[in-house]
Amino acid sequence: MNILVTGGAGYIGSHACKALALAGHTPVAYDNLVYGHREAVLWGPLETGDINDRERLDAVIARYQPRAVMHFAAYAYVGESVENPGKYYRNNVAGALTLLEAMRDAGIGQIVFSSTCATYGVPRQVPLVEDHSQNPINPYGCSKFMVEQMLKDFYTAHQISSISLRYFNAAGADPDGETGEDHNPETHLIPLVLDAAMERRPGITVFGEDYDTPDGTCIRDYIHVSDLAQAHVLALDKLQNQKGHYAFNLGNGNGYSVKQVIDTAREVTGRDIRTTIGPRRPGDPDSLVGDATRIQKELGWQPRFPDLKDIIQTAWNWHRKHFAS
Ligand SMILES: NC(=O)c1ccc[n+]([C@@H]2O[C@H](COP(=O)([O-])OP(=O)(O)OC[C@H]3O[C@@H](n4cnc5c(N)ncnc54)[C@H](O)[C@@H]3O)[C@@H](O)[C@H]2O)c1
Repeated sequence: MNILVTGGAGYIGSHACKALALAGHTPVAYDNLVYGHREAVLWGPLETGDINDRERLDAVIARYQPRAVMHFAAYAYVGESVENPGKYYRNNVAGALTLLEAMRDAGIGQIVFSSTCATYGVPRQVPLVEDHSQNPINPYGCSKFMVEQMLKDFYTAHQISSISLRYFNAAGADPDGETGEDHNPETHLIPLVLDAAMERRPGITVFGEDYDTPDGTCIRDYIHVSDLAQAHVLALDKLQNQKGHYAFNLGNGNGYSVKQVIDTAREVTGRDIRTTIGPRRPGDPDSLVGDATRIQKELGWQPRFPDLKDIIQTAWNWHRKHFAS
């Protein structure tokens, strides 16, 4: 089955392409390469194009006749979204709308969407469950929330079934070392820590150590990117058998503090990682951890790499190979 994978040359999209290929599908990566990497597309064709370009989308859809879409293409820098919201609404919301209209007109009835825990806003209780209120506090989170709303309406009006997967922090790399994380600029903690271990940056700043957590640093939920990719395949299977629109958290259920991440990275790499303590960043909650019981029960999803050490080990294997100078 051909599956159109928007953002298929990106970090999570490339892992999803591998998982799709292993499940017997042909992933057709559709990416404008603004952040993606041509060399990360290894499991099917790459079609360069923008999700805002309706003509190009229609041509690719006509060529491959995909049965379903996995939609990863988006901008995902929270800080930039505050400074330049139009860029985010244009790409993440208008782009998704163009894609959905192209799907509607081509009769494609299924989509798995990369949503985010940022749609919840400030957590009222942790771990976060799917029924927690959604009050995003930045344009990035709002843009993803708006797409979730559109998906609901496109199901009602056009029977396009959807699953929104609300990721927590994607981390790690393909255990076979075939693809991994390479964002530029990089803002995610684990690759930044590994950069410090490789002396690609002088050290790492910990933003605040006076949070209401056991060691004072923020707690986040890290989910291995291959576990995340596998959940997409399960989501696709569900949509083949059951119409509707659904949303699931995709997290580990285990929170790890910034200090725990740095200590584990020291252990895995055997290298020194220099840290300095900086001020808190506005809008950072003490703890963001997801309850993934629903996806475990309804889709039978089980993480293969829930342990932080394994997550960092796979990331380190990739990082060392990919960024070796
Ligand atoms: N990385 C995380 O921890 C995380 C957490 C929650 C949600 N997400 C979401 O998951 C998705 C993938 O994230 P990622 O970390 O792999 O990011 P990424 O930047 O590596 O991948 C996104 C890909 O989309 C492409 N793209 C962007 N705009 C496009 C457009 N208009 N047309 C075509 N291609 C376009 C980029 O070139 C890139 O290859 C995003 O939607 C992101 O919001 C990521």
